[in-house]
Amino acid sequence: MNINNDIDEVLCKYLLGKNVLETKIQKMIDAFVKEHNYNPVEHIKSRIKSKESIKNKLISKNLDGTIDNVVNNIKDIIGIRLVCSFLTDIYDIVSLISMIPDINIIEKKDYISNPKSSGYTSYHLIVLVPIVYNGKKDFVKAEIQIRTVAQDFWASLSHKIQYKYEDNIPNNIKEEMYEYSLIVNQLDRKMVNLNKIVNGNK
Ligand code: GTP
Ligand code: MG
Repeated sequence: MNINNDIDEVLCKYLLGKNVLETKIQKMIDAFVKEHNYNPVEHIKSRIKSKESIKNKLISKNLDGTIDNVVNNIKDIIGIRLVCSFLTDIYDIVSLISMIPDINIIEKKDYISNPKSSGYTSYHLIVLVPIVYNGKKDFVKAEIQIRTVAQDFWASLSHKIQYKYEDNIPNNIKEEMYEYSLIVNQLDRKMVNLNKIVNGNK
């Protein structure tokens, strides 16, 4: 691994990109709230991937520790998670993000229509964020994860389980988590329906 010397400079760019993206997303939400008197986002979390995780991801992808490999193959150095109440909010948020000037969506993954085999559900976007670094225009990639509070609850336990067992999660735990993902989905759908009734089917 020889990325140590240059990685700090690269991470500065990603930190800038994270700030740019957070600001644009917050503006987008503020405008939506002003117009609709409703906030589709319960909370936002963001992070920069640690150097250790970047190195581990390169290793898991069988890639050498070069800056080019980091920039070209790791799309989630900037991670932003938008957690909302209702399944329907997710699709509203995706369409709002697609309308932010300068933010270019280069990949969409709908793990709600197509859940992962673990049962994981969320909507992922990979976007290009414009930055100015040392007076030069550039772009950095970022991963935006959009999910409901219930999906977030499931993902948070799933993450702890993955961490504890690494790649050797016992089958009974896998099966139980898969079963709970179906319950989460059922609950999310019931909440959408109930909310429609409460709001007079608007
Ligand atoms: P990467 O190279 O790992 O980014 O894979 P990918 O490009 O196929 O990305 P993908 O769209 O599958 O998203 C990977 C991210 O989704 C992970 O970093 C997690 O945050 C999340 N994720 C995917 N599966 C699970 C899961 O079973 N449990 C949890 N908690 N998170 C998951
Ligand atoms: Mg990813």
